[in-house]
Amino acid sequence: MTNPSPLTGEVRILPDGEALRRAAADEIARSCQEVLRARKAFTLCLSGGKTPRSLYQLLGGEGDTTFRLKIPWPQVHFFWSDERLVPADHPDSNYAMAREAFLQKVNATRKQVHRIRTEGMTPGQAATDYERELRAFFGEHLMLRHNVPRFDFVLLGLGADGHAAGLFPGWDAQRAMRPLVVAPKVRDPAQARISLTPLVFNMAATIVFLVTGKDKAPILKQVLEGPRTPEQISAQAIKPAEGKLLWLVDKDAASLLA
Ligand code: 6PG
Repeated sequence: MTNPSPLTGEVRILPDGEALRRAAADEIARSCQEVLRARKAFTLCLSGGKTPRSLYQLLGGEGDTTFRLKIPWPQVHFFWSDERLVPADHPDSNYAMAREAFLQKVNATRKQVHRIRTEGMTPGQAATDYERELRAFFGEHLMLRHNVPRFDFVLLGLGADGHAAGLFPGWDAQRAMRPLVVAPKVRDPAQARISLTPLVFNMAATIVFLVTGKDKAPILKQVLEGPRTPEQISAQAIKPAEGKLLWLVDKDAASLLA
């Protein structure tokens, strides 16, 4: 079931988590094929959180090798929407989650994996370091537009408070519009993140939000149908200027939508 809207993009409601992860994997495979017809590298920006894990496992071939075999993995470059201030082997690391769920299984090499490094750095230093990494890669591959990296495909989750990536309520919307990467000030140290900004997300060719579960139903309704307060609800700041925005949501998460 689809319901396109100019403000929020397309909303596709899937019967369950299994259908949702397949739909997401299909979108990635199709976009990857299209992009690789024209050039040699496909850039995929991964998110953390629980929702994408089963998608990553499917991409890695767990229980079904379709996507592991179908996607030309050596040409895919992996980036992250956000990261916690933890080392790469920490259980809370978004990089570690993706590595275990699928990067190892598709034999991603060091050159393909552009993780947000945090070791020995303050959040601000880690943000600067990642901005440098993005500029170097996207500059070298001529994939900057208006001097901003243009990702081929971005995956995002929706927090129960409406946050996308590492941009929690109260994120500094004005400041965060300008740099590519920020380390927003947070009251709860457990929320400390290094995060890409809407400036980068909104330059992407495709952005797909993955939202599942009844507990996400109220916030999904608020994001898609409520008043627009992007400085509180950062998911509302995600609107690609020249790209596609797709919400893949399961029936439970969609249960309160009009
Ligand atoms: C993270 C992401 C975060 C996540 C949402 C949804 O690293 O956790 O920063 O933005 O995508 O909080 O998370 P769930 O999928 O776990 O609900």
